[in-house]
Parts: sequence; C-alpha cells; structure tokens
Amino acid sequence: MCPMRVLHGRAVQTGAGLFFGVRGCYATATIGAPAPPPHRLMDGYMDDLETLRAELITAVEDAPDLGALEEVRVTALGKKGRVTALMKSLGGMDPETRKAAGQEMNRVKDAIAAAIEARKGELEAAELDARLARERIDVTLSARPERAGSIHPISQTWDEVVAIFGQMGFAVAEGPDIEDDFHNFTALNFPPDHPAREMHDTFFLPQRPDGSRHLLRTHTSPVQVRTMIHQPPPIRILAPGRTYRSDSDMTHTPMFHQFEGLVIDETTHMGHLKGCLQEFVEAYFEVDDVPMRFRPSFFPFTEPSAEVDIRCSRKGGELRIGAGDDWLEILGCGMVHPNVLKACGIDPARYQGFAFGVGLERIAMLKYGIPDLRTFFESDLRWLRHYGFAALDVPTLHGGLGR
Ligand code: PHE
Repeated sequence: MCPMRVLHGRAVQTGAGLFFGVRGCYATATIGAPAPPPHRLMDGYMDDLETLRAELITAVEDAPDLGALEEVRVTALGKKGRVTALMKSLGGMDPETRKAAGQEMNRVKDAIAAAIEARKGELEAAELDARLARERIDVTLSARPERAGSIHPISQTWDEVVAIFGQMGFAVAEGPDIEDDFHNFTALNFPPDHPAREMHDTFFLPQRPDGSRHLLRTHTSPVQVRTMIHQPPPIRILAPGRTYRSDSDMTHTPMFHQFEGLVIDETTHMGHLKGCLQEFVEAYFEVDDVPMRFRPSFFPFTEPSAEVDIRCSRKGGELRIGAGDDWLEILGCGMVHPNVLKACGIDPARYQGFAFGVGLERIAMLKYGIPDLRTFFESDLRWLRHYGFAALDVPTLHGGLGR
C-alpha cells in the first residue's frame, strides 16, 4: 500500500485533470486559472506525486545502461528535473499541507534516489561482467617466441673482474680512448726513441699544427698516469677499457680490452702484488690453489717487471686451469718504475706500488672456451646466443661469477 494513503487516510484521487502538476505546468495553471482550494490541491498533489514516482521508478528500472540511468536521474532529480519542479509547487500550499506534502515529496525523492542507486549497482555489475567476459585471456594460446637479448662475454668478464677487485678495495677509474704521447708513452718512461713505441704498432691520428700526434691508446696504462697526476696516494684503482693496436689474426684484433691495476702507497711490495693476483686468478677461474709463476720480463714503466703464468693442462684438447703440468701466460705486471712516479709528481723515495695489465678477451676465452678472438667483434647473433649471458645474471662473488 502506498504510504501516503496511510498517512492521510484519504483515497487518492486520480484523473487527467490533476495530472498537470506532473507535467510541470502547475505554475502556468495557477496564473491562468483560479487557485484550487487547499485540500483539493493536496489531493491532486499526492496523486501527481504517486504517478510521478511510479513513472520514474519504472524509467529507472528500465534504464538499459549507466548513460540512460544518468539521464533519468537528471530528468527526475536534477535542478530542472520533474521532482524539483513539483517541489516548487509546494509554495502555493498552506503551511500545514505544505509540511505533509513536503514530507511525502522527500519520501518519493528518497525512493527514486534509492532506486537509482540500486539500478546503478546492477548496471555496474553487469558492465563488469561484460568486461571480464570481453577481456578474458585465453591461456591456451601458445606463447609467442620471446627475443631476449644476452650479455656479451666481454661485458660479463668486465663485470666479473670489477666484482673481484671491488671486493679487494679497488675503485674503477677510466681514461680516454684517444690519448696523447705524454700519457701513453713519455710519462710511462718510454724514451723518445724507445723501440717499444714501434713495438706497439700504434694507430696515430693526423699530425696537429704543433707537430704532435694523438693516438688510440695502446694499453690501459695511461690511466695510471692520469690517476697519479690527479689523486695523491694512497691509490688503488682498476681501469678496464678499450685498447688499440694495428694487429689482426686469430689471437689479435685491432681493438681489444684490457684492465689495468694500480696500487700506490708507502708500504706495498711485490708480495702484495703476488697475493692480489693469486686471489684474482682463483676467484676468476673459480678454482682453489692455482699454482702461479712470475717470469722476469720487461716493461719500461715497471721495475722489476714480470709476466705471470698459471698452471694448466691441455690434455684431450681441453684446457683445465690449476691442474696439469703446462703453463699459461695470463698477464704482465711489476713494481711501478720510480721515473713513472716522478713524471706524475709522486715522490719515489716515499711512495711505491705495483701495476698489472690483463687482456680481457684473453681471460674470457680461457674461462669460457672461446677459441677465436675475432669472433668477439663479428656481431654474429648465433655466437652471442651461444656464448652470451642472461641479462640479469649479474656476476657477484657471493652469487657466483660465471654461469
Ligand atoms: N701495459 C702493458 C701491456 O699492454 C701491461 C702492463 C701493465 C704491464 C701494467 C705491467 C704493468 O702490455
């Protein structure tokens, strides 16, 4: 039963004559015609209200989607909506009637608002269901092949070496690929006519107006010089980078990589150099107790100088590090020559230290069984897929350096 009947105990009048309020013509009617007596007005009002309520609730329930529902809401409850229009008609009533009519009005308003909310909930749920159905992923589809890139063995080895020396307290230092004579040769104790300048088979750049010639650095040792000039001891750096020599065969390419180590302080001696390299070799090759041999050698920038060999076996075409009775040369090193310290403004009477230089490709080839140096730079994707590393396989000492 309709609540307004209970409230007023009066039968609701129906009829076309009283319908004008619903259509929003009530104001016009009051101007054009004499105002109906209050009780008639109230009855008519209730009637209109009930009709309006039924009509709007039906419209709400019939709204096919959220857009249509919003339209119904605006038509019903908006500023110029029909309920609002009817509300305005309260003005013509006496206070008591207006109070009762106003309460009814609010009830109807609330009922319509509640119906809109309920319908909205239904429509939203239906929309979500439809979206879920539409966006369902068919997991039975076979996955498309994914083209994952891989890390080049040079980058991997570089990271491994940095991880090992980083653990020993070495900081990474860098220098330019294009060097001048001073940093690449003179400061490193190469006299002007030293055959080593020829020995390196250097790529020179065109001569400059002052007669000097820049060059592509032949080793990473100029980074020693740059570091010593810019930083007072103690120094402990590792300088990985590209180097260039005019060479090309199975074991030489015009561009290759080295890493340079340099330690300068007041007490460092050859024993430290040996310990450091022993530590490095065992960590890098992931083999305990690799026997090492220091062979006397010559570099202008170290005195004494040595080349370092490690034990290996080559039986059955397989190289094994740390066992067997062959030797494998892996790097050059020595105590930094006093002339180099002097050229860099460091007092050789007070400071000393060691340096070493290692071919990055060389140790990568040894560890990962890559037979031909040239393949590193051929950009052959099949090669890279075979020898490359997963992108997230970042080498760390605790997580493992290799694969
Ligand atoms: N610079 C040397 C080379 O390229 C390697 C080296 C570095 C040797 C440091 C001794 C000390 O062959």
